Amino acid sequence: MLHLDTSKISGTVSAAELHALQGKATEALHMLHAGSGKGSDFLGWLNLPSSTSLAELSDIQATAAKLTAGADVVVVIGIGGSYLGAKAVIDAQLHTFDALQDKSKRTAPPVLFAGQNIGEDYLSELMETLQGKTVSCIVISKSGTTTEPALAFRIIKNFIEQTCGKSEAKNRIVAITDKSRGALRTTADKEGYKTFVIPDNIGGRFSVLTPVGLLPIACAGIDIVALVHGAAEMERNTAQHVPFEKNIAAQYAAARNALYAKGKKVEALANFNPKLHFVAEWWKQLYGESEGKDGKGIFPASVDFTTDLHSLGQYVQDGERMLFETVLSVAKTKRCVTIPSDEENLDGLNFLAGKRVDEVNRMAELGTLLAHVDGGVPNIRIELSDLSEHTLGELIYFFEKACGISGYMLGVNPFDQPGVEAYKKNMFALLEKPGYEKETAAIKVIINR
Ligand code: PA5
Repeated sequence: MLHLDTSKISGTVSAAELHALQGKATEALHMLHAGSGKGSDFLGWLNLPSSTSLAELSDIQATAAKLTAGADVVVVIGIGGSYLGAKAVIDAQLHTFDALQDKSKRTAPPVLFAGQNIGEDYLSELMETLQGKTVSCIVISKSGTTTEPALAFRIIKNFIEQTCGKSEAKNRIVAITDKSRGALRTTADKEGYKTFVIPDNIGGRFSVLTPVGLLPIACAGIDIVALVHGAAEMERNTAQHVPFEKNIAAQYAAARNALYAKGKKVEALANFNPKLHFVAEWWKQLYGESEGKDGKGIFPASVDFTTDLHSLGQYVQDGERMLFETVLSVAKTKRCVTIPSDEENLDGLNFLAGKRVDEVNRMAELGTLLAHVDGGVPNIRIELSDLSEHTLGELIYFFEKACGISGYMLGVNPFDQPGVEAYKKNMFALLEKPGYEKETAAIKVIINR
């Protein structure tokens, strides 16, 4: 279950100002459902959880079972929307030190990622780690032409073919891509890989509840049925007919737009549980690519507390007042550690002996909230009852829905990303990619100026 608390924005946004945005948020919600707003070709995610059949989920689970059978490692290749959702759920769910866990304690092989950067050291160390291991691979690219995953796939494909043989490689590689277009589709069809389709009407950053996210998550041994059920519950709870007073997606969208109008241009998504680090990374892509356009948009940042209270805490408390915080608070941890008593008590911490570590964390969270609100940082709080698959499913859909509403309130098309092409054009020109001769000549002039 999720609970949203926007009461701590009242120092910046009055109840009347927030109330004034209710109509706009409700209108945006209706635009989403009517498909009457910008980018309405990309609304496939809107009713996805409730329309995903058990047969589709079973196919994904069966494929995961085949990929993981006899594998020492599963490598998932993808970037952006083809990476972050799966990484977020897997990190939130699995043991923090999963990769170091004893083989006997594991229910699934470790899932490692590639193609989410062009780091030569990263790739080299990954390949060194894979030596002598049986590797399965999921390669994910909607376009099929993204440089980072395409480079990584060349290397991993070669490795699997060399270690298992070409015919076994066919069973060890699954591609998730466009239904008919792109280089990855061509390769998959030629090699005879099992494939899953990324629907045309779902953009990368909204694709975690498609096979893009679900197959890697299933390979990690995580319950994808519960994840999708959680998302479907949030789909019902934020549906068009749910009034603003009960619709937490509309409320969150209204609160952040009200804060933006008051000059709060940066939203820091804060967690007090390091398992949520990559949920924030996923959220940053979702909101950054959806809203950062036409010279507008809240800059989505993230902080891991209490870690970052010892680095960014000073700025948050005392720096320029253009920030607000949205705290992801987990009511129930997965595990329990009790603080021991110490005979010498040199650190003076015996007053905490017998308490749970989480109790200390909870007081850190409350103390931080009071300090930051006092320091002029409005606070939105999202409480998660726990870190179960069901709750994570709810959280994912909540953020997606609120993002669509918020983008329409801001007046942008939340479903395109024209800005991400600029660096690629320069990179290809610099690398002298065939077809980029004009751009190469132009960029050389600028560089040699
Ligand atoms: O949101 C987007 O579309 C991008 O950030 C993509 O997620 C990212 O570039 C990966 O694209 P693809 O799946 O086509 O390789």
